[in-house]
Amino acid sequence: IDEEHKTTQNLLKTKAFTVALADKEHMDVADFFGIATGNKMNDKFERTGYTAVKSEFVNAPIIDEFPVVMECELAEVSETESFYCIVGKIINTAAEERVLSENGKVDPSKLQALIFDQFQHGYYVSGEQVGKAWNAGASLMKK
Ligand SMILES: Cc1cc2nc3c(=O)[nH]c(=O)nc-3n(C[C@H](O)[C@H](O)[C@H](O)COP(=O)(O)O)c2cc1C
Repeated sequence: IDEEHKTTQNLLKTKAFTVALADKEHMDVADFFGIATGNKMNDKFERTGYTAVKSEFVNAPIIDEFPVVMECELAEVSETESFYCIVGKIINTAAEERVLSENGKVDPSKLQALIFDQFQHGYYVSGEQVGKAWNAGASLMKK
């Protein structure tokens, strides 16, 4: 994440931030957040018509409309010649009921989260489970 971004400057001040997962339904606003900068556009958030509410867990706002949000404390800032990196400690994860499975955990097939692809500059929808982790390769463990 670029050090000059408004987002970066804000989270360095508050020592907290939230990460929202966007779905197809909210793609236009998610993309707009990536095009516009709060450094030049004073009403960047207001013009989306979205709702910001204060997190109960960290000193940062949550955007109500996105289906999943991770509320983070700023844990570490790492800087090298090639990157400026923010590491967060997740204090709480909040999700809309409609994206939860029966066990109360986020179900990616319901979430249909957007994936940003660097090759084609496209947005794709994720959600197809193609295997089980710690299981798909298990047969190779047996001799
Ligand atoms: C699809 C997409 C991906 C982006 N990825 C990054 C990224 O990985 N790191 C980064 O610093 N900026 C990235 N940006 C650019 C910032 O989102 C952009 O500079 C934005 O204006 C910063 O807003 P702010 O200054 O209000 O925080 C991306 C933008 C888009 C549209």
